[in-house]
Amino acid sequence: ESTLGAAAAQSGRYFGTAISASRMSDSTYINIANREFNMITAENEMKMDATEPSQGQFNFTNGDRILNWALQNGKQVRGHALAWHSQQPGWMQNMSGSTLRQAMINHINGVAGHYKGKIHSWDVVNEAYADSGGGRRDSNLQRTGNDWIEVAFRTARAADPGAKLCYNDYNTDNWTWAKTQGVYNMVKDFKARGVPIDCVGFQSHFNSGSPYPSNYRTTLQNFADLGVDVQITELDIEGSGTTQAETYRKVVQDCLAVTRCNGITVWGVRDTDSWRASGTPLLFDGNGNKKAAYTATLEALNAG
Ligand code: G3I
Repeated sequence: ESTLGAAAAQSGRYFGTAISASRMSDSTYINIANREFNMITAENEMKMDATEPSQGQFNFTNGDRILNWALQNGKQVRGHALAWHSQQPGWMQNMSGSTLRQAMINHINGVAGHYKGKIHSWDVVNEAYADSGGGRRDSNLQRTGNDWIEVAFRTARAADPGAKLCYNDYNTDNWTWAKTQGVYNMVKDFKARGVPIDCVGFQSHFNSGSPYPSNYRTTLQNFADLGVDVQITELDIEGSGTTQAETYRKVVQDCLAVTRCNGITVWGVRDTDSWRASGTPLLFDGNGNKKAAYTATLEALNAG
């Protein structure tokens, strides 16, 4: 196959990208997105601050733009993200206790309810674990009680029973890292107690501080063995040239080696669209040309 989405579909997987509503009128950008990808994540437009700027007043304008474009072009959509310590609207940031807990529940009901039946997978909770030590990250949501994550998942299940419900985080790729073990133990506990979780998202923002680990496939397989799907949700890889291309190839090979690895999403289209202000972490250069990383990714998908 000659596009990433079609190549991934040969094994029943998807290949996606993050889309920014503000770039949709850029024809080079939107043409690449339409041609290459069959799964779409809104880079910012479905987050808490974007969708509930005033308490109880939901705004789906930009989220709907992205979702409708995706669905009209035969693509599926990953929802990102229902509950997160970051990018909370101002009114939520200083809330605490039962008021915040109820606001989170209302938010999930409002957003997952609006998109009910249209989302392939939701990142229900994003980045709830601390960077070191293996425990939870301190946040206003965490201070409402350790059960906030399972409450979020139960709420999301009731609001949109058809969506896969994912926990999504970064620096959970290396099996030996404490953060990975912390998330693994949470998922194991959720499965044991019947908390509705269907998938784990590995953001996979690889750079010199958190490089692609040689045990990545082990990590994906160990999570899958808990009875959840695994998805690579925000892939980007620092670097350039052959080194970068070969790392992309390994990531794809690792996903394809794990039956329950459903698909891969890269976090942007061109290098110039990346959240990383400097660097060239994506598959297309600033002019929309395919990089060596693109070729390696496509080859790996076709070989699988
Ligand atoms: O929309 C406003 C604009 O009105 C304002 O003038 C401008 C001035 O700063 O800011 C604009 O908002 C920015 C927004 O992106 C849209 O461009 C925010 O400042 C900026 O912080 C925000 O960055 C996003 C970041 O999440 C915020 O945490 C990135 O685009 C987005 O790629 C990034 O994505 C995250 C995932 O959600 C979770 N995992 C990590 C990943 C990378 O950080």
